[in-house]
Amino acid sequence: MSAIESVLKENRVFEPSDEFKTHANVNGMDAYNALCDKANADYEGFWGELARDNIAWKKPFTQVLDESNAPFYKWFADGQLNVSYNCLDRHLADKADKVAIIYEKDDGSSENITYRELYERVCRCANGLKSLGVQKGDRVVVYMPMVADAVVAMQACARIGAIHSVVFGGFSAGAVKDRVKDAAAKVIITANESVRGGKQVPLKATVDEALAGGDCPSVEKVVVLARTDAQVPMVEGRDIWWQDLVANQASECEPEWVDAEHPLFILYTSGSTGKPKGVQHSTGGYLLGGIVSLKWVFDYKPDDVFWCTADVGWITGHTYIAYGPLAIGATQIVFEGVPTYPDASRFWSTIEKHKVSTFYTAPTAIRSLIKLGADLPTKYDLSSLRLLGTVGEPINPEAWMWYYQVVGQNRCPIVDTWWQTETGSNTIAPLPGAVAIKPGSCTLPLPGMMVDIVDESGAPVEKGNGGFLVIKRPFPSLLRTIWGDDARFKSTYFPEDFGGKYYVAGDSAHRDENGYIWIMGRVDDVLNVSGHRLGTMEIESALVANPLVAEAAVVGKPHEVKGEAVVAFVVLKGERPQGEDAKRIAAELKNWVAHEIGKIAQPDDIRFGENLPKTRSGKIMRRLLRSLAKGEEITSDISTLENPQVMEQLKQTI
Ligand code: PRX
Repeated sequence: MSAIESVLKENRVFEPSDEFKTHANVNGMDAYNALCDKANADYEGFWGELARDNIAWKKPFTQVLDESNAPFYKWFADGQLNVSYNCLDRHLADKADKVAIIYEKDDGSSENITYRELYERVCRCANGLKSLGVQKGDRVVVYMPMVADAVVAMQACARIGAIHSVVFGGFSAGAVKDRVKDAAAKVIITANESVRGGKQVPLKATVDEALAGGDCPSVEKVVVLARTDAQVPMVEGRDIWWQDLVANQASECEPEWVDAEHPLFILYTSGSTGKPKGVQHSTGGYLLGGIVSLKWVFDYKPDDVFWCTADVGWITGHTYIAYGPLAIGATQIVFEGVPTYPDASRFWSTIEKHKVSTFYTAPTAIRSLIKLGADLPTKYDLSSLRLLGTVGEPINPEAWMWYYQVVGQNRCPIVDTWWQTETGSNTIAPLPGAVAIKPGSCTLPLPGMMVDIVDESGAPVEKGNGGFLVIKRPFPSLLRTIWGDDARFKSTYFPEDFGGKYYVAGDSAHRDENGYIWIMGRVDDVLNVSGHRLGTMEIESALVANPLVAEAAVVGKPHEVKGEAVVAFVVLKGERPQGEDAKRIAAELKNWVAHEIGKIAQPDDIRFGENLPKTRSGKIMRRLLRSLAKGEEITSDISTLENPQVMEQLKQTI
């Protein structure tokens, strides 16, 4: 049975236990409904009160929402604040000695960093950046391993009002270059190497490669954290060791007070067209989304040990590592390693070691760990856990049940959180002390999130029918624009098809008889591989940039562990290769894509044809390619195809 079929047959329901409910921040459906009613009755009053209660403002705002230039909405616009102040300074009075970060290193050693220590490290780094000439509004690319200093770097940018753009450490030089250029970054912060699974991975060398050729004239300085002892070439006048930069800096740094709408960061994500787009987030609204979701969805308690296993290179690592947990004064784990090193029990042993109470990971990790040792969690003391979460892709009920029974020991609710780089924080997810959970459903919207499922005309669909997932009202943590491309922002997210008023998420979904939302997948040409978002067009562009390739089309196919796998149909400039030749060229092209974008975008399967299936007007028939990739029988009429014979060729895997 496929994952989708098994989701459609799912009807189990798990109510929150009385024990969990009693201590929950939002206790029972009446409390949840009361929050929703409040938001419905007085939308601005609802968000305004939350913003006043949860954020320390330097200058209070007088207007909650400004819709005068829709869809360029503004929240709390005349208020002033600083995110780093909210995450650090405001805890110093009563939590200075509380552990902010447990930095769990790749080799299994760990380091505790208190709020005071983190504050001082951030201030030193902020002062260091200032000494390099970084000012409010300047862009700083952060290309770092999952070390505690990655959080320090992000917080330091926020402290001085610089806009960071974190680039995932697994991306290649080409991807770094594109992002540096698009944002005209002044400084890059990196490390000599990262350490993952016992292996050293060069990062500085990748930055050097990105900057070679002089395509990035905006870059003035490269700050290099010495994560290992490896010596790397340093360019005179451009490169500076992090350790030298911060050595003599003051451990205090007055925060730069910024307007609530000041961009906090840019984060690039894939869409169906063109290059990845720089999703631009605000300061005040974004911060609020992180805080309220941690209180509602993660039911935050002061003695929690929170662990989100994401990388800071993705939105999950921004909101649920770099900002949210610090803003509420939590103790959290920053994990440098991989789930399979030194063996597949790393997650479970780390939960035991640090007495983790809240664990947040991706379905793909769960599925791969089931494969590698379904009984491994039982060998560890996981009694500290009280809440589990998933994010990034739909979870199949089988993996959900294992997570619930074996990891959570039938005790811990699972919050399946639907959201996106663009929404900034959890958007649809259960409030675990209120909403009963169903395996595979992200359940109900958070209070104040006006989610709906509509047809092509924008009319709500009947329960049970699939449709487009939309959000009908702007909300504080929603992206503000695409960096440097307001027009693309408008046409991508607020298309005229729906009157230009709804935020269109790009997912399809349906509602069941209880109003629960079930995400069915993307409606555009975006793939979700191991919870990572990839545009088919990006991979196609990378492939056709190879001198051997004439044409390429990329589609997804279901994959047991990764959720989706990348299948590339390729036409070479020369003859269609066969046998050993085909194998060799396929391997070459996989490496090529890894080099152009990053390993995560590497096709799993490459198939060669003399041509691609096209209509007589020359349009590639992707629907057919999807069926071929899945190995389905082609039953539809292919007589309109210009070149039906290529279908046989493209069936053949290499
Ligand atoms: O298709 C949805 C899927 O991931 C997409 C967003 O990807 P990204 O911006 O990279 O953010 C991922 C982490 C927030 C969505 O459009 N997605 C995310 N969470 C879920 C999900 N699909 C189903 N269930 C989820 N819980």
